[in-house]
Amino acid sequence: LAMNILMFSSLLTIMSFFRPLASCPSICICNSTHSDCSSSFNLQISFNSILNQLPPNLTSLTISENNITMIKPQSFANLSSLLRLDLSRNNLLSLHRSTFYQLSSLEFLDLSSNFLLNLPFHSLTQLQHLDLSFNSLDSLPLGLLDGLQALVWLSLAGNKIGTLQRSVLEPLTVLQHLQLEENNWNCSCSIIPFKHWLEWMLYRGGHVDSIQCSLPAILRGRDLRRVPMEMFRHCSQLPIPETRHHSASCFRTADGLLVSTDPAADCYRQRHKTVSVRRAPITVVVAGVVCAVVCVMMVVAATYGCIYAIMIYMIYCTYPLQQTHFQKTCILHGPESAPSQN
Ligand SMILES: *[C@@H]1O[C@H](CO)[C@@H](O)[C@H](O)[C@H]1NC(C)=O
Ligand SMILES: *[C@@H]1O[C@H](CO)[C@@H](O)[C@H](O)[C@H]1NC(C)=O
Ligand SMILES: *[C@@H]1O[C@H](CO)[C@@H](O)[C@H](O)[C@H]1NC(C)=O
Ligand SMILES: *[C@@H]1O[C@H](CO)[C@@H](O)[C@H](O)[C@H]1NC(C)=O
Ligand SMILES: *[C@@H]1O[C@H](CO)[C@@H](O)[C@H](O)[C@H]1NC(C)=O
Repeated sequence: LAMNILMFSSLLTIMSFFRPLASCPSICICNSTHSDCSSSFNLQISFNSILNQLPPNLTSLTISENNITMIKPQSFANLSSLLRLDLSRNNLLSLHRSTFYQLSSLEFLDLSSNFLLNLPFHSLTQLQHLDLSFNSLDSLPLGLLDGLQALVWLSLAGNKIGTLQRSVLEPLTVLQHLQLEENNWNCSCSIIPFKHWLEWMLYRGGHVDSIQCSLPAILRGRDLRRVPMEMFRHCSQLPIPETRHHSASCFRTADGLLVSTDPAADCYRQRHKTVSVRRAPITVVVAGVVCAVVCVMMVVAATYGCIYAIMIYMIYCTYPLQQTHFQKTCILHGPESAPSQN
């Protein structure tokens, strides 16, 4: 029996020794840190079972070229050690808000060559490299990149972007490389704040590839980085000086952006004040209505008081049968007694 137990326990030891190898899904190629499950067609069917087989301390995962169309919200929940994730060359259309929620250590994310229209990026505070090239993005919503304060490299090349809001890019304070070519850049007046941001980025040693304008016709084929500001002189209604609540170097443009001619000015932080500024007219209207109601009530009260006083006077001073205290007062001080005083 003792022999059997010994054999059994040594078998267990051997089994546990080989356990890491067993946690590599059969269609993937693994070493101690990296799992490569690329080009495994039909992966969509077994995608979640493959993720379940991966070791929880995995730091690098490649699942490219698999025609994946959808990823369930909590799919990466057990892979919180991941530093690198490559989902490139799939058929992803959108990603759930919480897809990357647990990947708080992630440094490298490749989502290139999908069909992504929208993106979720909160909680990726360690992310340094983000590839979004060759998707179907036509704009980046305000706040999308707010949490990515460690981002050094970003590609938006090969999308359908016409313009970028300066305040979307402003949180990326350590960004060094930005790829923007092969988009539909609309170099009209509204691109001025983005051009200012671009100049600031280049000034502090950043690298930006070409930004070929598609519109307007006069600038078609020109690189926005080299279009002189003189070409935007007709946009003279922009910017509108912002006098209240903001430092003098920040301006508000017609589309509500805070921009600055001084690159050092931190207009991004002030962006959040814009809501209260927008609410100011509403406050004035509400205060005006309240004041008007109070005024009307005061007039009504005063009128009522006058009518009441006149009625008292008529009852007590003009009724001859009752010699009341009030009537004596009326005779002494009323209109009839006035001549007797002279
Ligand atoms: C992950 O855990 C396995 C054992 O479960 C170990 O063999 C492997 O070296 C670990 N990898 C890292 C990167 O810690
Ligand atoms: C694991 O494989 C990846 C990709 O092939 C490679 O870059 C990495 O150096 C490998 N790591 C080890 C520890 O062999
Ligand atoms: C994946 O997509 C490619 C290109 O559209 C196609 O050739 C291939 O058959 C697809 N594979 C599967 C398993 O659907
Ligand atoms: C994560 O691990 C837990 C416990 O091992 C398991 O029950 C769960 O199904 C796993 N979730 C995913 C998405 O792999
Ligand atoms: C280009 O931008 C201008 C505003 O600057 C806008 O009026 C126009 O519609 C845009 N054109 C396209 C095709 O989006």
